[in-house]
Amino acid sequence: RQSMLVDTHGRFHNYLRISLTERCNLRCTYCMPEDGVSLQPQSHLLTTDEIARVAQLFVRSGVDKVRLTGGEPLLRRDLADVVGRISALGVRHIGVTTNGLVLKQRVQALAAAGLSHVNVSLDTLQEQRFNAITRRRGLEQVLAGIDAALDAGFGGRLKINCVVMGGVNEDELAAFVELGSSRPLDVRFIEWMPFDDNRWNEGKFVGYSSMLRSLQGSYPELARSGDERNDTTKWYRVPGHEGRIGFITSMSEHFCGSCNRLRVMADGSLKVCLFDGDETLSLRDALRAGLPDRQLGALVHTAVLKKKAALGGHGDMQGIARSSNRPMILIGG
Ligand code: GTP
Ligand code: 5AD
Ligand code: SF4
Repeated sequence: RQSMLVDTHGRFHNYLRISLTERCNLRCTYCMPEDGVSLQPQSHLLTTDEIARVAQLFVRSGVDKVRLTGGEPLLRRDLADVVGRISALGVRHIGVTTNGLVLKQRVQALAAAGLSHVNVSLDTLQEQRFNAITRRRGLEQVLAGIDAALDAGFGGRLKINCVVMGGVNEDELAAFVELGSSRPLDVRFIEWMPFDDNRWNEGKFVGYSSMLRSLQGSYPELARSGDERNDTTKWYRVPGHEGRIGFITSMSEHFCGSCNRLRVMADGSLKVCLFDGDETLSLRDALRAGLPDRQLGALVHTAVLKKKAALGGHGDMQGIARSSNRPMILIGG
């Protein structure tokens, strides 16, 4: 396929992740330093119109899945407007990844605007731990947000993202599995990834194989289920449970070979790979210089052609830990 979205490894990128804000109402340890990050002035961030223009450019080239991230995307007041404008472009999938804190208040309007999928980040079901991990409070609100999303019709299109860390929450895997026992939601366990200032350390790393072993103890009937094309996730099922169980194994068994993802940060930088800290293209500057779509497309293609075959890990984690990157809050996952 001839497109600005095909790289030198033959990968076609039909999934665009757009970060809408650098702000967040939590301070998760694995995502940002305690003091937060220094925020860029509002004028450096993409406006609603610029986001819509970028989304249109990518959709015209073949993107059919968009995920809105942050920071916390629900802090962006115009979120329903952004969803509506992207939905009007005719994508098959438009999702949001949220910490769920204010989801209950917003989910109806987002559904009405055309949101199709919701991923909620939640790493513990215990209040004390929630407060320690997020350095804020709000477990009850997040759980209410998940219920509200199910009430709003997101059953079967709702995932819980749980970043697993040794000595922090690794003893809660079975409790998370139970969340989906009689509710139509999927739970995914995510290997903790190193980013600047997130205190990642190999000693507290819990990999796919040990998560699986520990779950097989509680659920001997756990069975591999089919994976979707280009998915980040290795899927399993517990017979009788409504929801699925998944593992995102960026550090131990990367899935770069089938990567279909590109990222636009809140400041308009294009990031061709999560682990590539060497970003070069500011779509914001190109847009503000008044470039027409054809020239924007050429710039995007040049950046996409530089995408490496794989930067995820295959157990060799120190390389990723050593390379510099933005803090996760400024990337959006
Ligand atoms: P679905 O569209 O529901 O499959 O979600 P997703 O996995 O694409 O996105 P989400 O925002 O829910 O992210 C879940 C986890 O997957 C986070 O830890 C992300 O950092 C990680 N992730 C998402 N995309 C990539 C990727 O391209 N590479 C790597 N290594 N990790 C990714
Ligand atoms: N390692 C793995 N996943 C992370 N996320 C944020 N930081 C990390 C990290 N260091 C997850 C969040 C959210 C998604 C966008 O990325 O929990 O669900
Ligand atoms: Fe894609 Fe880079 Fe993630 Fe690998 S590490 S799956 S190439 S974004």
